[in-house]
Order: sequence, then structure tokens, then C-alpha cells
Amino acid sequence: MKRKGWVLAGILGISSIVFGGSGIVGTKHDLRPTNPNVNNLNIFSQNVQEICIFCHTPHHSNTAFTGAPLWNKADTTSQFTMYGTTVSGTTTDAQPNAPSKACLSCHDGATAINSIVNLPGPQPIGNIAHVSMTTDGGTTFSGDGVAVPMPANSYANIGTDLTNDHPISIVYNAPNADPDQNPGSLRPITTALTGTWLVRDSDGVAGPTIGDLLRNGKVECPSCHDPHANNPADGNWADNEHPMFLRLVGGNQGSALCLACHAK
Ligand code: HEC
Ligand code: HEC
Ligand code: HEC
Ligand code: HEC
Repeated sequence: MKRKGWVLAGILGISSIVFGGSGIVGTKHDLRPTNPNVNNLNIFSQNVQEICIFCHTPHHSNTAFTGAPLWNKADTTSQFTMYGTTVSGTTTDAQPNAPSKACLSCHDGATAINSIVNLPGPQPIGNIAHVSMTTDGGTTFSGDGVAVPMPANSYANIGTDLTNDHPISIVYNAPNADPDQNPGSLRPITTALTGTWLVRDSDGVAGPTIGDLLRNGKVECPSCHDPHANNPADGNWADNEHPMFLRLVGGNQGSALCLACHAK
């Protein structure tokens, strides 16, 4: 899919729209069998030829799940150990919120990657089905009905222990305009993003700002990542792409992504 990327002309403070740098086709989130080689462990479906279906369906979606629109997966029922209290005294929520659970419904290493609520074609609805999938390089497939979680040997397996991950489901608490006054050195929420970001401008403040990265005022997985971003198979950080599905074009070179929020 194509969406707007924004470039900020820093000196003049003028913003303009650029296109490109987005697109899920051929990325590690394209789980079609015709695209088997871009992800680390050849995680791909045996016979489902659609891309969006592993996450979305146009009809009969899982309305019990509010983390992402028209969700076509079972929710994760995992219990997570959260990051807890930060040096600034801000504390993560008791469990991940829905926008992060969308990611964790594949990346927790426990919930099936291959769960689908609405199968392609004239199939019974309402039952969670598991499509055939492989996670072992393609030699053996797990047949229909077998739940396939993210393998333990994938670096993409974040697990259910989130104490070693950047805090998520946490309020972006920048109490005043002076970043040096708060230990997290968080910039004001209305700070304009510099660089080219894949982001929706929806927080009511003109131009892409930190507020556009937040979900309900909180840092969640999609604050830093866009699951549809053009994610190069070669992992090249230098070209006009989104390594690691990061929202910032070129990824985190110079730690630009971190510095967007932290005035360090
Ligand atoms: C690996 C899972 C995954 C796949 C595959 C996927 N999406 Fe998404 N999609 C998401 C998540 C998660 C969100 C919510 C993202 C957020 O909060 O920023 C989302 C949000 C969206 C949105 C709302 C706008 C936005 O970007 O937040 C649209 C439209 C969308 N997806 C369309 C598609 C289409 C079309 C495809 C197939 C070409 C697709 N998606 C494939 C996970 C996925
Ligand atoms: C339908 C299952 C599914 C969902 C939902 C999903 N992912 Fe993934 N993701 C995968 C698979 C499979 C891989 C490839 C893993 C591997 O190569 O070992 C992957 C890889 C990644 C990678 C590594 C990319 C790289 O360049 O190596 C990142 C980062 C990532 N996902 C982030 C996210 C985030 C953030 C979300 C939510 C917005 C999300 N994913 C939702 C299945 C999913
Ligand atoms: C504050 C920003 C931020 C948040 C929030 C965040 N990530 Fe990441 N994530 C990154 C960066 C930066 C990288 C690239 C690290 C690297 O290249 O080693 C990354 C890498 C990854 C990877 C690849 C594994 C690795 O160690 O490189 C996965 C998978 C992933 N993120 C998933 C998630 C999921 C799931 C969530 C929510 C639970 C999440 N991320 C929240 C910034 C973030
Ligand atoms: C979307 C904004 C955002 C981005 C981007 C971001 N952070 Fe954070 N970070 C936060 C928030 C919010 C907290 C919670 C701290 C607080 O409330 O003071 C935090 C906390 C931290 C903490 C302190 C944790 C503690 O125990 O006090 C560290 C260290 C940190 N981030 C590093 C990073 C790094 C490294 C990156 C880049 C990979 C990054 N952050 C990107 C918003 C962000």
C-alpha cells in the first residue's frame, strides 16, 4: 500500500509531501508461499496467496479485538510481564493495550501466526482456523488446524517478558516544555518530527508530530514501527526504505528515531 511520507524542511519549517518508501509486498510481513525467502526462518503459508489476510479481512472480522482495523486473527491470550516503573516514575499499564497486542499476537512466541478468523473463499466463519504453514525452511509444513507460533530461534520472537524491551503501553509524560526538567528528556508532544516519516497526521496538530506516533496518548509498538512499511530483504539502512519496519525512512541511523522523542 502507498501512503504519504512527510519531509520537513527544517530551516524554513515548511513541510511537503513525498511519496514512496512504503509497501508491504515482498516484505517479511508478506507471508505468501510465493514470497518464502525474505524472512529469516522461511515463515510462510502453504497455500494462502493473499497478503493482508494474515492480519485483516474485509468481512466478519474479529470485533472483540480493537487494536487494528478489520482484524482477522485471534487475540493473544498471553499474560505479559510489563516493563514496570521507569526512572521518571511513569509506569506501564498492567497489560499491553490493543495496538501493541496486534503485534504481539504474532510476536509473543506463543500465539499462532497462522490463525485466521475468516478464511479465503466460501468457508465457514466464526471459527478460528489455522492455515498450513512452515517455519523451518520449507521442508515440513504444519497442516491445517495446527497452531504455529513464532519460533523461539527467531530474533523476531519478542516473547511475553517485556521487561527487556522499550516500555510500551505507557503514557507519553512530558510534563513541561523543557526536556531537561524530566528524566526521560521527553520532548513536548507537539514537537514536529524531522526526517521522512511514514505517519498519519491525525493528532489535530498540523504536520507530523510526536503526538502522531502515540496511540491514545501512549507509546505502543506502532509508535516506532509500521507493519506495512517497505522492509528491505537486504536490511540496507542507507536507501529510501524502512529497515525493521521502522516508521523513519532509513531506520534508526544516528539514533534519529530515539532522538525524535528523547532530547538526549
Ligand atoms: C502483519 C500484519 C498486517 C498485515 C499483513 C497488514 N496489516 Fe494493515 N494493519 C496492521 C496493524 C497492526 C494496523 C494498525 C497500525 C497502527 O496502529 O498504526 C494496520 C492498519 C491498517 C490500516 C489503517 C491505516 C493504518 O495504516 O494504520 C489499513 C488501511 C490497512 N492496515 C490496510 C492493509 C492492507 C490493504 C494490507 C494488505 C495489502 C494490510 N493492511 C496488511 C497489520 C497488518
Ligand atoms: C501475522 C503475524 C504477524 C503480525 C500480526 C506482525 N508480525 Fe512482525 N513479523 C512476522 C513474521 C513472520 C516475521 C519474520 C520473522 C523472521 O524472519 O524470523 C516478522 C518480522 C518482523 C520484524 C523484523 C523485520 C526485519 O527486518 O527483520 C519486525 C520489526 C516486526 N515484525 C514488527 C512487527 C510489529 C511492530 C507489528 C505490529 C504493528 C507486527 N510485526 C505484526 C509476523 C507478524
Ligand atoms: C521506542 C521505539 C520502539 C518501540 C516502542 C518498539 N520497537 Fe521494535 N524496534 C525498534 C528499533 C529501533 C528496532 C531495531 C533494532 C535493531 O536493529 O537491532 C526494533 C526491532 C524490533 C524487532 C526485531 C528484533 C530486534 O531485536 O532487532 C522486532 C521483532 C520488533 N522490534 C518488534 C516490536 C514489538 C512487537 C513492539 C511492541 C511490543 C516493539 N517492537 C516496540 C524500536 C521500537
Ligand atoms: C515515541 C516516543 C519515543 C521514542 C521514539 C523512543 N522513546 Fe524511549 N521512552 C519514551 C517514553 C514515553 C518513555 C517512558 C519514560 C518516561 O516516562 O520518562 C521512554 C523511556 C526510555 C528509557 C528509560 C527507561 C527507564 O527505565 O526509565 C530509555 C533508556 C529509552 N526510552 C530509550 C530509547 C531508545 C534507545 C530509543 C530508540 C531506539 C527510544 N527510547 C525511542 C518514548 C520514546
